[in-house]
Amino acid sequence: MYTKKVMDHFSNPRNMGEIENASGIGTVGNAKCGDIMRMYLDIDENDVIQDVKFKTFGCGAAVATSSVATELVKGKTVQEAIKVTNKAVVEALDGLPPVKVHCSLLAEEAIHAALWDYAEKKGIKIEGLKKPKSDIHDHHDHEVEEIY
Ligand code: FES
Repeated sequence: MYTKKVMDHFSNPRNMGEIENASGIGTVGNAKCGDIMRMYLDIDENDVIQDVKFKTFGCGAAVATSSVATELVKGKTVQEAIKVTNKAVVEALDGLPPVKVHCSLLAEEAIHAALWDYAEKKGIKIEGLKKPKSDIHDHHDHEVEEIY
């Protein structure tokens, strides 16, 4: 049911933990399954993500999507990072079972929330970044969302 990559990221998650004095922290949850994901970003003066860590209290797929999402945004600029969608996260894992696609939305939203927090702290506006939701359960504008 799960791909090798999902199992690998689940059993051996990358970048798990937290960053002290992070440039941005984003926490999102899904009230329906009760899972919570938190992303920490360390962003330098050129808007490049130098480090990223996550903490996920959730299902195995949520752990795997958090882990792969940290790899996808590390080293990217803020502008590049906002383009990392849940679809990209699913592709990087070679797919997720349909009932688990919502777990990848948590990863996308947690990154957006952390970027939003960074922008607020710095007093800047990130082009193309919308205010993230703290609960993805009422998220209706995603292509792969029809799993509910
Ligand atoms: Fe909720 Fe996976 S079941 S995030």
